[in-house]
Amino acid sequence: MRDESGILATLGTVLKRINAITSSMHFETLAIHDGQTPDPATGAVTVPVYQTSTFGRESLESRPEFFYSRIGNPTRSALESTLALLENGKHGLAFASGVAAMTAALQVLKPGDHIVAGRDIYGGSYRIFEHLMRPWGVETSYAADESTEGYVACIRPETRMIWIETPSNPLLQLADIRALAAITRERNIVLAVDNTFMSPYFQRPLELGADIVVHSTTKYLGGHSDVIGGAVVTSDEALHRAIRNYQGAAGAIPGPWDCWLVLRGLKTLKIRMKEHEATALHLARLLEAHPAVSRVLYPGIESHPQHELARSQMSGFGGMLTIALKGGLPAVEKLLAATKLFILADSLGGVESLIASPAKMTLGHLSTEERRRRNCTDDLVRLSIGLENAEDLGRDLTNALATI
Ligand SMILES: Cc1ncc(COP(=O)(O)O)c(C=O)c1O
Repeated sequence: MRDESGILATLGTVLKRINAITSSMHFETLAIHDGQTPDPATGAVTVPVYQTSTFGRESLESRPEFFYSRIGNPTRSALESTLALLENGKHGLAFASGVAAMTAALQVLKPGDHIVAGRDIYGGSYRIFEHLMRPWGVETSYAADESTEGYVACIRPETRMIWIETPSNPLLQLADIRALAAITRERNIVLAVDNTFMSPYFQRPLELGADIVVHSTTKYLGGHSDVIGGAVVTSDEALHRAIRNYQGAAGAIPGPWDCWLVLRGLKTLKIRMKEHEATALHLARLLEAHPAVSRVLYPGIESHPQHELARSQMSGFGGMLTIALKGGLPAVEKLLAATKLFILADSLGGVESLIASPAKMTLGHLSTEERRRRNCTDDLVRLSIGLENAEDLGRDLTNALATI
């Protein structure tokens, strides 16, 4: 039998710590402490992996916080609470993948509703809009460009959501979150932002007026390319209720181990993001000066057409950069084959640097016509800058570019 007074003493210490943690604390402090106080039963400083499907009830009348892990699990709760605080939102909800999180956020719509989305969005988002939502009776129109006017031109009386990814994937164009929020608020439209590329360390859309933030936690939040996950954060009670009900009913929840891995990733998010950014900036400048490169798309450099908007709505520029090669597809194929540190792979946001051809890989499933509409040309190369040494990465790219 455990000593109950010991448990109560630990619980008392935990409660004191919970009360001491406030949203006015700095990002990195919240990432480590919020929702992650020592375990009341044992004092363990790391949130335990509650690998259980169900929880015993004290009596028939009891209404415990946790009773079945599809509906709620303490490891998931710790993650959800931390995600909410980092995005400066009231409610966080964790999902089994980024696309599961997106699908859940879209459940606030009903047949007959209409979505306006950016054109340069993640291919999987496009697949959800076209293959899941459209047959269900929800149509999506795609803005001709990322300008606010481009989105407004697509609004119809039945538009209920504007969906943006900023910066976009793979062209790294920006949508003006504040300007769009002013428009959606006026017209009772939900503004949803996929914040995967920036992470809450560099961009917090809810603070700029968005209603819903979505993440693929597979990327920067997990940060180590070892977990698939997703998240939705909102401060709107009605939206939260609808998405939470869907989470419990449809059940695309992450298991406790996966939640734990994302929680561990979050603890180092700040230092990882700063390092991804510093190296990305170094490489962007190096590549801008390279004769084989026709364009460098990175919001952190002055030549980016929306550099000023980037400075006004983001506190940093992230670790994703896209280049175009003068030699077109043959040059791209040679570059992808020649890098030694950059791994040819589809994902992003991990500690290791990745290289990809958007036209052949992440958007390869789209028709040539759709890729043309998106300006996703064959000469593009997308780089996810990892945490290796910046000079080593620069040398890897320069050596590989010498082969094309
Ligand atoms: C911007 C963005 N959003 C969402 C997703 C989907 O995330 P997941 O693969 O975790 O389902 C991805 C995946 O690449 C992405 O890049």
